[in-house]
Amino acid sequence: MKRKQENWTSQLGAILAVTGSAVGLGNFLRFPGQAALYGGGSYMIAYLIAFAVIGVPLAWVEWGIGRYGGLNGYNSPPGILRKFTKSNVGAYFGTLGVLLPLIIFMFYMIIEAWCLQYAYEFLFGKIPTGGVDVYKNHFENITGQNQPNGFLLSQGMYNTTLIALIICFIANFYLLYHGITKGIERFCNLALPLLFFCSIIVVVRVLTLPIQVDGQGVLDGLGFIWNPSQPPVYSADGGLIVEGKTFLGGLSNSQTWLAAAGHVFFTMSIGLGLVITYASYTRRSDDMILSCGTSCTANGFCETVIAALMVVPAAYVFLGPEFLNSDTLKNSFAIGFYTLPQVFALMPFGRFFGFLFFWLLFLAAITSSISTLQPLIAFLEEGLRLRRSRSIAIAAAVCGIGSLFVFYFSNGLRALDTFDFMVANLLVFFIALFQAIAFAWWFGLDKGIAELERGSSMKIPTAIKFVIKYITPAYLLVISVAWCVQSLPEYSKKVANDHVIQLSMAFIAIVFTFLCIVTNISIRRWQKEEETITEISQREGI
Ligand code: ALA
Repeated sequence: MKRKQENWTSQLGAILAVTGSAVGLGNFLRFPGQAALYGGGSYMIAYLIAFAVIGVPLAWVEWGIGRYGGLNGYNSPPGILRKFTKSNVGAYFGTLGVLLPLIIFMFYMIIEAWCLQYAYEFLFGKIPTGGVDVYKNHFENITGQNQPNGFLLSQGMYNTTLIALIICFIANFYLLYHGITKGIERFCNLALPLLFFCSIIVVVRVLTLPIQVDGQGVLDGLGFIWNPSQPPVYSADGGLIVEGKTFLGGLSNSQTWLAAAGHVFFTMSIGLGLVITYASYTRRSDDMILSCGTSCTANGFCETVIAALMVVPAAYVFLGPEFLNSDTLKNSFAIGFYTLPQVFALMPFGRFFGFLFFWLLFLAAITSSISTLQPLIAFLEEGLRLRRSRSIAIAAAVCGIGSLFVFYFSNGLRALDTFDFMVANLLVFFIALFQAIAFAWWFGLDKGIAELERGSSMKIPTAIKFVIKYITPAYLLVISVAWCVQSLPEYSKKVANDHVIQLSMAFIAIVFTFLCIVTNISIRRWQKEEETITEISQREGI
């Protein structure tokens, strides 16, 4: 039985959908949080190198692999990678391309719910006003990070974050149910331009903030994120607040490189099975080089220009440099919730802009979260031949359990952080490396590039071909090995002492096992279908 395949209605639709998948909480919350956590300027260097060496080349690779899979009848990462590599090994690596977005969805829902709740609170004037501590306490109450595990759930429907979470679930599954053109494409066409517009207004307000705390203002905040070396910061009475950092000091930490590379994957939605899935819905004649270049540029702009100019300087001014270098910021997504309400409090019509910003962030989050479920839904449809409604029901059940797991283990946000860490700092490297090798060495670089260039008015530069073949895989290998040598022993100790981290890892392992079983069943089905087609062709002498 041949499945009815969908396509984006236009090339612009494909670009906006991929951009919608890429632009999300990663750009506006995770990126500033990571930049602050890993020392500002040195993180930016690692980030920009990762963007050039793995981000853009792998994005092209994924667009090429994805369309190849789509033209051959597959839209799920296991189906696409099996077809592309002509091997079942490809299907099992593709399983990771279903697992990772699924895990992202589970924790992403929680942050999406925070955004929705903030939008609601701004709209109805329920956001408390006051100093830094007021905003921090408010955020901590909403997230339950200072409460024992299970506290938020024990409040049942009195807990507004739980209500927000349920609304997010309904919104996501409603859009998914309406399919990729009516649901996802239409929604992205509207939400993205609005978000750009609103963010620019907030950036202008941040950059014109007249505030100085401990002699530090917006310019110092910009210096924090754009200068690779940092001068020490002293208080008015001469006491040392934060030690300075040398250029090489920041860059010698393998964790900075790993985090930057992991974030490039997260923010560009590459190595996660998302871009190959979305690219599989493009048409034979689409200009993939242009589409990919445009979505990478839009995502990079949102991150390095808008988010970097908006959140980090505001955090620097309101929270102070010592906060950015402290453990309080362990959760990278928290930074925007601590700081932006303070920016809005200082703006004319701040309540309105606060509402608009968090509402649009919520919309941007939805365009990303729906993309994280599409690989699973496509997989269930083409692997188990389930109808869309059934695939969506299974996805909803699995995700519901996962999100409740993260919601339940709210203390210290450790479940959320572990899910994030496992995806963006660990597992993504396996599938990214596999795809780079499969494209350049297995399928054949020239053949792969020809596939990618079909329908494009531009050609891939020779230097990029060299990067895809040698530099990208080598870079991925080197930073992974460096991290294992430098940081794995410490991380293992942390895991051994924390049962929430252990449970979170066990949860991911169980989901992976379930998906591997589905992959196994799918492979047998696909093999049978291929045998039938071969038999028919032989019988008819084709
Ligand atoms: N790429 C998505 C984001 O940045 C997951 O939020």
